[in-house]
Amino acid sequence: MLRTHHCGELRLAEAGIRVTLAGWLQRSRDFGGMTFIDLRDRYGITQLVFNMETDAGLCEEARKLGREYVIQVTGKVAERSNKNPNLPTGDIEIIVEEIKVLNQAKIPPFTIEDKTDGGDELRMQYRYLDLRRPVVRKNMELRHRMAMETRNYLSDQGFLEIETPFMIRSTPEGARDFVVPSRMNPGEFYALPQSPQTFKQLLMVSGFDRYFQIVRCFRDEDLRADRQPEFTQIDCEMSFVEREDVLHTFEGLTRHLFSKVKGLQTDPFPRMTYADAMRLYGSDKPDIRFGMTFFELTPWVRGHGFPVFDSAELVAGINVPGAAGYTRKQLDELTDWVKRPQIGAKGLVYVRYNEDGTLKSSVDKFYTEEQLKKWASEMDARPGDLMLILSGDTHHTRKALGELRLEMGQRLGLRNPEVFSPLWVVDFPLLEWDEEAARFFAMHHPFTSPLPDDIPLLATDPGKVRADAYDLVINGVEIGGGSIRIHDRGLQQQMFKALGFSEQEARSQFGFLLNAFEFGAPPHGGIAFGFDRLCSLFGGSESIRDFIAFPKNNAGRDVMINSPAPISEAQLKELNIRTV
Ligand code: AMO
Repeated sequence: MLRTHHCGELRLAEAGIRVTLAGWLQRSRDFGGMTFIDLRDRYGITQLVFNMETDAGLCEEARKLGREYVIQVTGKVAERSNKNPNLPTGDIEIIVEEIKVLNQAKIPPFTIEDKTDGGDELRMQYRYLDLRRPVVRKNMELRHRMAMETRNYLSDQGFLEIETPFMIRSTPEGARDFVVPSRMNPGEFYALPQSPQTFKQLLMVSGFDRYFQIVRCFRDEDLRADRQPEFTQIDCEMSFVEREDVLHTFEGLTRHLFSKVKGLQTDPFPRMTYADAMRLYGSDKPDIRFGMTFFELTPWVRGHGFPVFDSAELVAGINVPGAAGYTRKQLDELTDWVKRPQIGAKGLVYVRYNEDGTLKSSVDKFYTEEQLKKWASEMDARPGDLMLILSGDTHHTRKALGELRLEMGQRLGLRNPEVFSPLWVVDFPLLEWDEEAARFFAMHHPFTSPLPDDIPLLATDPGKVRADAYDLVINGVEIGGGSIRIHDRGLQQQMFKALGFSEQEARSQFGFLLNAFEFGAPPHGGIAFGFDRLCSLFGGSESIRDFIAFPKNNAGRDVMINSPAPISEAQLKELNIRTV
């Protein structure tokens, strides 16, 4: 071994012993008679000291070393006179006796420290250097712990980790596929899995009972902070279960992770129906760390000559506690904020409930103070509060108000990343109407079971059917989703009919699964967690990229290896892909 200890290990107890360390030179400081070097490895930083008086030659040598040189030093552990309480090794330093350069390094393009001067693009281009930074390294360590604890928990619960193929054919998830041309089968393509959905259901037919996999999934969709084209799921499926069993097991996994990784004990997770989530939060993934739920004012505001409210399908608002002091300028700015295309509201009505009990609104022309008082009582507003009201069609109004609620929660500091508020959202609609295609699509996937009570509606009013589907939401992030599956042939046929698939179309797309289901499929259901999202939530970051060793940028590019990239004519030819 080229070292006796690592750079995060030595404490006062080791003072006096001779050690050998190896690592990267993070920083060196020269004070005339003394030179100090911070030596860094995966485990931490240890201070090295060189004294001009005791060994001028060695000191000179040390001064010549550049940043990120890989060095090996041998010396004595000594108590520091100037201790650094911010460093686990801050009580000691190494009085170096020998030094060896293991490798030189070019000057790095940015400083390899927690606070770096490197921009996003540059750090991604040199991701291997970025990964040396302790903050980024800690994210990888967290990810590793999360994966280990997940495996421990699920294995203890009798789940088997089984790998499924990456080169498959289209899966019935909603995004576009990434495809891989087949050289041996001209004109044909594999698809990379958007999830192992069909395979895990086949494993249930095979009798594996409890399956899981920490698995890469691939989706060609627009990217955002919480979406990558390749990402990882904790994918699971269970047989002979009902919804309660799945929720219980995976609430257990989540609580296990909170406890083992964050040291947090969590209360049982609340449940909310999709309909309530939309009505009260305008979102199917509500952030319940704070209140400010919606109040519907439609019946109280109509018929007073204000055309915007009179013509609206829904008038709804939130009460922002303690915000009556918002100035006209701030309110104008907020109005511009809701009118941005991303939010899409036409305007914002506000009512200030002043500390002295008077009410002042942007619609005083149409409503008396008495009427505003009525709104205030409907909205549980108190003196000092600010009511913000939007109107329009139900869907868009709820969505915009949901965004406004999140923004106000953020401004009031109510979205603390160290507070975790999980909940289950249940009873999603089974089908979603697509205006353009003029047909229903499965909201989750075509094998999701309807709630038993709603099965008769499949034939009469498919849009009303609720699914036996559930999402795990934490702090406004969709962490996981799953459902109880259809295992009954007749019901599956009804579902395909509602989706507008002929028997033949269904056979051509999902024939292998339908065939398998004819050989005794057990009742089954499952869930998949977005593992990158779970890690970034635990790590207190909004961007999943920070928790992926080699992520892609927002254009889907890996700027380090510069991919995607063209391939040669010869390769194209071999793959039977014609060029123009
Ligand atoms: P779903 O499509 O809801 O379900 O995906 C499960 C979870 O995966 C995460 N996720 C993503 N994370 C990062 N980047 C992406 N592009 C991305 N897309 C999804 C989310 C999401 O909740 N087969 C079903 C699961 C099942 O029914 O068992 C499925 O894949 O956190």
